[in-house]
Amino acid sequence: MPNNYFGEVFFGVEASDSFASALNDAFHALEPKWQNGIFTGDNLITFGKNLSFQLDAPFMQALETHATKKIEKSIVWRTAMLVWAARNGLRREGALVECGCYRGISARIICDSVDFNATGRDYYLYDLFDYPEGSAHAAMPDMGPSLYDEVVERFSAIPRARIIKGFIPDILHVQAPEKIAFLHIDMNGVAAEIGALDVLFERVSPGGMVVLDDYGYLPYRAQRDAERAWFAQRGYDVMELPTSQGLVIK
Ligand SMILES: C[S@@+](CC[C@H](N)C(=O)[O-])C[C@H]1O[C@@H](n2cnc3c(N)ncnc32)[C@H](O)[C@@H]1O
Repeated sequence: MPNNYFGEVFFGVEASDSFASALNDAFHALEPKWQNGIFTGDNLITFGKNLSFQLDAPFMQALETHATKKIEKSIVWRTAMLVWAARNGLRREGALVECGCYRGISARIICDSVDFNATGRDYYLYDLFDYPEGSAHAAMPDMGPSLYDEVVERFSAIPRARIIKGFIPDILHVQAPEKIAFLHIDMNGVAAEIGALDVLFERVSPGGMVVLDDYGYLPYRAQRDAERAWFAQRGYDVMELPTSQGLVIK
């Protein structure tokens, strides 16, 4: 039987105690056989699901090792989708790429889950890492002068990870792979994400995977609309996943 998975972080909840208590009441109202497979977190509430990611031993081990913050544990389903996309993308030619790696947690989990060192591929991880006063990009709690070195250290056991500090799209014209098997775009900004697609999508191998983070989150509606239109112009329909990611298989 599946286990329940209780992530604690939801976005947009003001009174977290009363929210948690209401959820608890709701789950107690379920018939016993539906009280398994409960998932909470990352604005997803489900019950009676298989939650198959919990049966993925390398993934759960990698999550345990690298996801140290509540938010990183709560977005487990999202991260499982990335692992799925990376695994399937690896059936195609090319590198793995993340535009907006921040602390590098999801990419590090992917590395362990797919045994990345055995793939013979490169992993390109781009970010600004720092947040100088007045920057246009959104601030994140761990951004700062030491974040780049922390991420380099996190990938010290992954020799073919390339941690690249630079502004997207500009840096992509300087350093980017010729072929891509898996592309994860997660920069929380329309111009940067469309800029990345403009340069990188043509390099994604046929059958390669593209995951657009936050595509389904209402506060990022402008990003979703711009990406939906960008892909529609090229004949693709983006799938909005319940995990709030957008998925395109080239
Ligand atoms: C939400 S975080 C990424 C989280 C990460 N993908 C993960 O899975 O943990 C967004 C990141 O995008 C980066 N970013 C935003 N605009 C950027 C740009 N134009 N070029 C490079 N990185 C950018 C920020 O520095 C930030 O670290």
